[in-house]
Amino acid sequence: MKRILLYLIVLLLFCSCAKKPEKILKEAGYEESDIETILSLSEEHRSLFMDGMNEKALKYLRNKAFTENGLDAYLHFDGSFDTDLLMRLVNEDILNDSNLSKLQTLYGSDGFTERNEELYLSMLDEYDDVRSMMEIVNTKRYKPLFSDIESVDMSKGDLILVNKYYQLDRDYIPEDLVDIDPSLGRGSIREKVYEAYLDLLEDANKAGYDLYVVSAFRSYDYQAGLYNKYLGMDPKEVVDTYSARPGHSEHQTGMAMDVTLPGVSLDDFGKTDAAKWLASNCSRYGFIIRYPQDKIDITGYIEEPWHIRYLGKEVAQDVYAHKMTYDEYYACFIQ
Ligand code: DAL
Ligand code: ZN
Repeated sequence: MKRILLYLIVLLLFCSCAKKPEKILKEAGYEESDIETILSLSEEHRSLFMDGMNEKALKYLRNKAFTENGLDAYLHFDGSFDTDLLMRLVNEDILNDSNLSKLQTLYGSDGFTERNEELYLSMLDEYDDVRSMMEIVNTKRYKPLFSDIESVDMSKGDLILVNKYYQLDRDYIPEDLVDIDPSLGRGSIREKVYEAYLDLLEDANKAGYDLYVVSAFRSYDYQAGLYNKYLGMDPKEVVDTYSARPGHSEHQTGMAMDVTLPGVSLDDFGKTDAAKWLASNCSRYGFIIRYPQDKIDITGYIEEPWHIRYLGKEVAQDVYAHKMTYDEYYACFIQ
């Protein structure tokens, strides 16, 4: 009997000495609300917090997106993305070891737009090169050219996008067209574009380049005539690489011009120093080279070193800095 009593006393002493989990967690520095959540976890997950302060696990525990199911994966992929994104990718069962690096490229790229997130994710497995896939999605090229044509979003003002997917109305004519001084070129152009061009021209002249405008504003009907003329010379799929279909030409915006040097054909302009000067400098005056070399898969057009498009200084310089076509830039930053 004495022995049993002694045994009971020892057991009682032991039990009262063994620390309660709450106490251990409190001493480790967890707050009341953390402790409550930790105690609701399974034994295995709770043990992550019992050996002292586990800052890494706590970061996830305190996040409103926390789910116990995701905890192992949060910790496994810790540091691969910012916390909120990582937790979302885990919670939505998107992230795994085999797509980790593709997802890092996707979410770390300049061209990432939230609006297209679902499409990127649906196409991630199909493409080894994530950036090309993003380019394709951003510029709608996952759809065949001239399919799913939409009206140009005129609310974008000077930043409207006119390309093979976005079309201007037949009767659209800018209101503020002004004639180009005949000594400087042919046709008419929007007033603010002309002013910007005169600034550009002044510096081009100083650099020794006597630029001349060979084509500026073109109406829908004029463009239709041009396109039809070319159809008499080349097959349609070839014409589509160098001439816009009516409604799809930037010239109808009154914000695009074709420039060259007197006596130099457009086809030869690219070989001149003036073309190099124009490509390097036009953004300072608010213009971009709209159809650069090697971008036919994005713009749909062969290189046109002579075709400049006004976007205003800020955007033109940003497009230039991003080394993007306007199709991509619009999809990423304007749309
Ligand atoms: N040459 C350009 C693409 C146009 O026709 O507008
Ligand atoms: Zn042009």
